[in-house]
Amino acid sequence: MHFRSCFRIAGPLLAVAALASTPQTLREAANASGILIGTAVRPYLLSEPAYSATLAHEFNMIEPEDALKWWTVRPTAESFDFKQGDEIVRFAEAHGIKVRGHCLVWDHNNPKWLAEGHFSPAQLSKLLQEHIATVMKHYAGHVFAWDVVNEGLDEKGTPRDSPWYNRPGIGLSDQGTAYIEQAFRWAHEADPKALLFYNEAEGDTLNRKSDAIYAMVRDFKNRGVPIDGVGMQLHLPRLDYDTGAVAANIERLTKLGLQVHITELDVALPVDSQGGARAEDLQRQADAYQRVVRACLQNSDCTAIQTWGFTDKYSWIGSHSHGAQGAALLFDRAYKPKPAYDAMLKALAAGRTSTH
Ligand code: XIL
Repeated sequence: MHFRSCFRIAGPLLAVAALASTPQTLREAANASGILIGTAVRPYLLSEPAYSATLAHEFNMIEPEDALKWWTVRPTAESFDFKQGDEIVRFAEAHGIKVRGHCLVWDHNNPKWLAEGHFSPAQLSKLLQEHIATVMKHYAGHVFAWDVVNEGLDEKGTPRDSPWYNRPGIGLSDQGTAYIEQAFRWAHEADPKALLFYNEAEGDTLNRKSDAIYAMVRDFKNRGVPIDGVGMQLHLPRLDYDTGAVAANIERLTKLGLQVHITELDVALPVDSQGGARAEDLQRQADAYQRVVRACLQNSDCTAIQTWGFTDKYSWIGSHSHGAQGAALLFDRAYKPKPAYDAMLKALAAGRTSTH
């Protein structure tokens, strides 16, 4: 009798204990697996309760989607505006969330005065060094990692035309990746403790661009250029994306002694005029998310997975695709978790599958 009642109590207790140890959020699962789970944020949405509550519950890292780009931070050549970035940092620090910085050097999202200005290489060099130093010092100790250079290479793997490279450039045009190297050296001087990343689009699988990224960062490592990692954007262009090739690419980069961050993951779907996607596509999307998470968790130097936004209510995919695509993220427009969320939670909760 005594034993039987013990068993009757122990059953439910065990069930409760098992429940308590099953992660209920992406953040809990990521903490347990020792990985950062992040998302891009827009500061003006932090006042929306569902937006900020979801962020605080689900993520242990955030990155300003646009708030630290030149077009926000540099209203004029002479001034810096850190209001939006500071708001994000304040929110993050109040919720024990790490902040990843994006981005210091890019040929896009620059203010008009810069994009359309007529500067000499010497002026641009001075502007860029000053920008990197001022922004990184302002956030030193608050932003743990930076995308120093974003999308520096084209699909052939050669440096992309940009004001910083060759239009007219900072004085290192026709010298391949020398301007990228210079930016990393300035960044390291500005905040020696920050992790410095090269971030790129469409260089996630094995292709000409990822081969060129690999060659560049191997050269940087060999010559002691301060670089800590490579960011793979992973705006997935197809549901059947070759995540095996992503894993192989992660493997070769980490063998150089670099970290990999997945920085801008989203999986765009065809949508109807209401923004709705087909049920079978939502399932295939869940599978794609899960495969990316697994590819990262396979390698202990793949240390962060970040999505480019988290609710379909606010995503760059709609405007980028002129409304043809959408529903790319983990939560629907009402902040309800989608199959992609469940799949990601399951994959994160399964933990790391290898320790190499
Ligand atoms: C996008 C933002 O999401 C948009 O809000 C903005 O209008 C344009 O830039 N690669 C990047 C990101 O590195 O900075 C881009 O973000 C998406 C593509």
